[in-house]
Amino acid sequence: MNTLIVYASKHGATERAAKKLSEKLSGNVDCFNLKKNIPESLDGYERVVLGTSVYAGKLHKEFVDFIEINEHKLKEKEYAFFVCCGFEEKAETYLRENISDEVVDKALFVRYFGQEIVWRNMKFYERAALKMVAKVKDDIHDIRERDIEEAADVLNAF
Ligand SMILES: Cc1cc2nc3c(=O)[nH]c(=O)nc-3n(C[C@H](O)[C@H](O)[C@H](O)COP(=O)(O)O)c2cc1C
Repeated sequence: MNTLIVYASKHGATERAAKKLSEKLSGNVDCFNLKKNIPESLDGYERVVLGTSVYAGKLHKEFVDFIEINEHKLKEKEYAFFVCCGFEEKAETYLRENISDEVVDKALFVRYFGQEIVWRNMKFYERAALKMVAKVKDDIHDIRERDIEEAADVLNAF
């Protein structure tokens, strides 16, 4: 079984979640950070996992573009989403606001894998924006190992 994990991550939280998932999946797993590299093709992969973080309610452009370009190929495969963001309850809504309902509906699952906030890594404008939307003062390291394991179990069952 060949699995492709594609993700978009700005400060590394989604990347860490993607790497943890890759370690728990059976078979061959290839990971691509869409901000750096784009896989040439989805051919040869039976499973595709798509992960993104959220900034000001938006998904990364590279992530949205990748899904639009590969929509038809994706629908021929087992695919699933995971989201890293501050508001767990909004994770699926963010997906639906940024990509088509049809693509989300056909996914095996949409899972929340947690979030990270590291103030010292943020640009000034990011700090200002975050202070407006969330009452967070301290760093947060909350990548959800248990949820990643559960998602891997679902994928490995296919
Ligand atoms: C400037 C800024 C804006 C953010 N906006 C949102 C948001 O609108 N909704 C949300 O749920 N989380 C938001 N977050 C939280 C990020 O999605 C979260 O920190 C995530 O783990 C970042 O993942 P990454 O390091 O892979 O990019 C925001 C974070 C920052 C720094």
